[in-house]
Amino acid sequence: MEVSDDQRICDAEDVPEAGTFLFTYRDGFDVEEALLVRLGGGDDEAGIACWKNYCQHWTDVRLDKGDGARVRDGELWCNKHAATFRPDDGVCTYGPCEGAVLDEVEVTVHDEGVYLTDDRYEFDGLGPDGDRDLSTGSPGGRIDFTGS
Ligand code: FES
Repeated sequence: MEVSDDQRICDAEDVPEAGTFLFTYRDGFDVEEALLVRLGGGDDEAGIACWKNYCQHWTDVRLDKGDGARVRDGELWCNKHAATFRPDDGVCTYGPCEGAVLDEVEVTVHDEGVYLTDDRYEFDGLGPDGDRDLSTGSPGGRIDFTGS
């Protein structure tokens, strides 16, 4: 896989053992978020996966709200209704969207760096999308009548 410096996201060691690393990418004129998650805690070249930063239950709910998504017992969690996802293949193993699959973004670990190698997208920047309202945790500011 060929990588280019302008598609370098971060050092592989920046991706936490228990959490996620958030970045933004450009899809045409749109800026979207994706998260990196470490697989199995190893340092092998296939040890990091990348998923678009939204749940498969409600796609306006972000998994990583800017301070890392919850990763527990090897699974990625959605804090809204406790769906869990396998980091390696993105499959929801429990919760209201069980069986659904997170949307993947292709990345490659090369020479201790993580590179965006998905032909559809361009790397934009680190951290959350600055246009988001972080107080709600969702881009549309969903009004939640459950009080949760
Ligand atoms: S929004 Fe993620 S489980 Fe409901």
